[in-house]
Amino acid sequence: MRKSVIFWSSRILPLVNLPRILYGRSILMNRTAPMKTLLLLPLSAAFLLSGCVNPIDPLGPIGKGPMPRPAKSKPHPGEKFAWGISTASYQYEDPAVKRGQKGDFSTDWDILVSQKKAPEKGNALYTWTKFEKDLDALKKIGVTHYRFSIEWARVEPKPGVYDEEVIRRYVGMARRLKEEGIEPVICLWHFTFPAWLYDTKNPGQSNWLHPLARERWNAYVNKMVRATAPYTNYYAPQNEPNGQITTAYIVAQWPPCMTLAFGHYWKAIDASTAMFRDAAARIKKIKPSAKVVSVEALPWWQRAPLDPGGLIYNTMIHGNVDHLDRVYDVCDIVGFNYYYSQAPGPISLLSENARRGHNFTMMGWRIDPDGLYKEIRRVGDRYGKPMMITENGIATKNDAKRVWYMRNHLAAIGRAIRDGYDMRGYFTWSLADNYEWHFGYKAFFGLSTMDPKTYDRVFKPSAGKFSEIIKSHPTLESVTTIGPQANFAPLKKQQ
Ligand code: BGC
Repeated sequence: MRKSVIFWSSRILPLVNLPRILYGRSILMNRTAPMKTLLLLPLSAAFLLSGCVNPIDPLGPIGKGPMPRPAKSKPHPGEKFAWGISTASYQYEDPAVKRGQKGDFSTDWDILVSQKKAPEKGNALYTWTKFEKDLDALKKIGVTHYRFSIEWARVEPKPGVYDEEVIRRYVGMARRLKEEGIEPVICLWHFTFPAWLYDTKNPGQSNWLHPLARERWNAYVNKMVRATAPYTNYYAPQNEPNGQITTAYIVAQWPPCMTLAFGHYWKAIDASTAMFRDAAARIKKIKPSAKVVSVEALPWWQRAPLDPGGLIYNTMIHGNVDHLDRVYDVCDIVGFNYYYSQAPGPISLLSENARRGHNFTMMGWRIDPDGLYKEIRRVGDRYGKPMMITENGIATKNDAKRVWYMRNHLAAIGRAIRDGYDMRGYFTWSLADNYEWHFGYKAFFGLSTMDPKTYDRVFKPSAGKFSEIIKSHPTLESVTTIGPQANFAPLKKQQ
């Protein structure tokens, strides 16, 4: 009986997971927030009550994980550290063609924009037509790796119909990177689906759950991996499926915009897991030496005072790893995105976007480099695999704060390497201020901005700092010498 209470509460509670719990969106930014806030109050009460009957941490302490556990991966002295930048197709690429013309395509997010549930994207950073501008900036910064994503809808604008010119251009991006000595890390799905997988009349059979999804996904993965394999050694099948599924099926903020659809949530987790595993198998078949990398959203959760039995906490840490637990064994590198930590309780969840001050980003996310150190330990002990931080960054107008944030998070990685954890790389989010989903162009994550006339990426000082760090820390163990220094103490009066 007690076991089943624990089981069901750990399954049902991610559900109130609210806009940003896993993914990081704020309810206060959401037009339907008042309704959700009302829903949230009784659910929070339920959290508190059920917390009293669930004193057990279902993941167990750091060090417990799926069994049998692989032998723990160890850092290899002298090995090169991957210094990268991450971007995503939808957030960077211009459409390049007008609606209805040849080459036109549409994603589920475009439907959301047309329904006025998300801000207009416009031409973003013109990355589709002016990729050389990105490449130029990457070369100047001196990154060794670059993570970008492929827009499935652009490649396959109608089911089974491929745009070969588009495929050639993506291959060209990978080739140009390689020619310039930068390793491409190709992400095959970064949040957006082709619009033909989104049935607005039947949201429960959309995207991950569309009857065509798995079959079309396998064909798409096959095609893109075959085409890019000559220039690519790293593939990330999916970006943060754990966060996206919560936002799509529980919080109703992302397509197919379903509210508290618990059954669909679990079906989508199953479907994305199966599709991840399919992709990993195909990648290995086509190019056995290529590395499969996971990209999960893993904030660091802490117990909150208004969570006496730890139920909310348990729920959140479960939400972090439910997907990863089922795919880690087919990954060569366990990659995860880390931005913040949170003590999830009703108050912190409701007040999140309102939080300001030097310990918070302009999105109200709590800055906590130590949380990254602890997350690395948890992930390293749980899965025993080499790890990468596939995204880490800060939305701020204050670039000195960005440098402070980056240095302190790198210092946390260095500390973990010193402790024997096998960290293979760090990717900052992101190259330039870009389209930040529901926040539109109002969250500044970039090391640069775009000059609207020349389309050049104009560096902020943080780009120069990142470049200096890369040059002076080429190997895994040299990263341990990055330390927060006196001048990186928290700054005053920051956004
Ligand atoms: C996503 C990015 C997003 C970033 C900042 C990550 O979770 O992968 O697409 O821009 O967070 O919110």
